[in-house]
Amino acid sequence: MELDGEQLRLMEVGPRDGLQNESTQVSVADKTQFITLLKTAGLKRIEAGALVHPKWIPSMAHSQEVIASLNKSESVSYAALVPNMVGFERAIEAGVHEVSLVLSVSDTHNQKNINASTSDALERYRPVAERAIDLGVPFRAYVSCAFGCPYEGPIAVPAVVAVAEKLLELGAYELSIGDTIGVGNPKQTHELVRALKESVPVNRLAMHLHDTRGTALANMLAAYQEGVRSFDSAAGGLGGCPYAPGASGNVATEDVVWMFESMGIDTGVDLNVLVNASEMIQSALGRDLPSKAFQAMMAQRQDSKC
Ligand code: HMG
Ligand code: MG
Repeated sequence: MELDGEQLRLMEVGPRDGLQNESTQVSVADKTQFITLLKTAGLKRIEAGALVHPKWIPSMAHSQEVIASLNKSESVSYAALVPNMVGFERAIEAGVHEVSLVLSVSDTHNQKNINASTSDALERYRPVAERAIDLGVPFRAYVSCAFGCPYEGPIAVPAVVAVAEKLLELGAYELSIGDTIGVGNPKQTHELVRALKESVPVNRLAMHLHDTRGTALANMLAAYQEGVRSFDSAAGGLGGCPYAPGASGNVATEDVVWMFESMGIDTGVDLNVLVNASEMIQSALGRDLPSKAFQAMMAQRQDSKC
């Protein structure tokens, strides 16, 4: 396998994608502590919350407070997901460094997730993108349901490319291609990324892979082999989308760091500190987190105490 020595660029989405699906309300103080530990672990981009309507996503209700309470520094970029201008203005008030827009390739998913058709949502994002550019706030965009939709089933590759091109035209610095419900496989990943590379420079592509069927790491490696170096992941394997039934956690940051670091590819993340972050949020949630590498390291810690 070809290894070019380039560091992976991770976007830690645990505090947003990870916690948005949780029924346990995590306090502002616990979220802030979790994010601070993730920063200490070396994560350079952290999606700290979502400025969405609390009726739609109750677990993100205090995101503005969480983001405002973070100790901002040059070394880390705090991001927030924003579904419209109201969310964007709230994110700016809270002091984010960057924002993420979300647009699905599936009309039905957009309707259920952000209450707009694909074309209406795109029009809604146009002024948001213009305002972000005016203020010098970088933004990325998720291309959701790129591997399949919980409502519409298989999604054609040209439809993914068309949505990606439109978001790129808006000025997104990066497009995060989402396997929202974890149905993708490595062959599909190669084909999709190859098709996207025809329109989008590979250094502006990221992958956002849910691990619902255990294929996220394999898909990630396929994307890596196509030249993608930017990936989203969630500490402990937290995650899901409340408007994508059956979607479970994102690829776990621990699993990503373990796999790539053991192949000599730098991730910039200290796995031991990352495990402290996941252990902290695991106890706040009161349930075991699914990451295999996290569980192995926790077991090792337990053994060394015996
Ligand atoms: P809507 O009901 O159509 O909103 O919801 P509206 O524009 O008609 O406004 C209704 C009321 O909501 C108004 O208040 C607005 O001010 C208020 P009122 O006048 O009635 O008092 N409002 C807001 N309040 C707070 N924050 C806002 C906001 N916007 C309007 N931003 C809306 C439309 C987009 C707001 C709603 O559908 C929503 O919040 N959706 C978010 C859904 C979401 O967060 N889904 C999960 C994230 S996506 C995901 O997980 C996938 C991803 O991980 C990638 C992948 O896996 O593929 C990113
Ligand atoms: Mg997601």
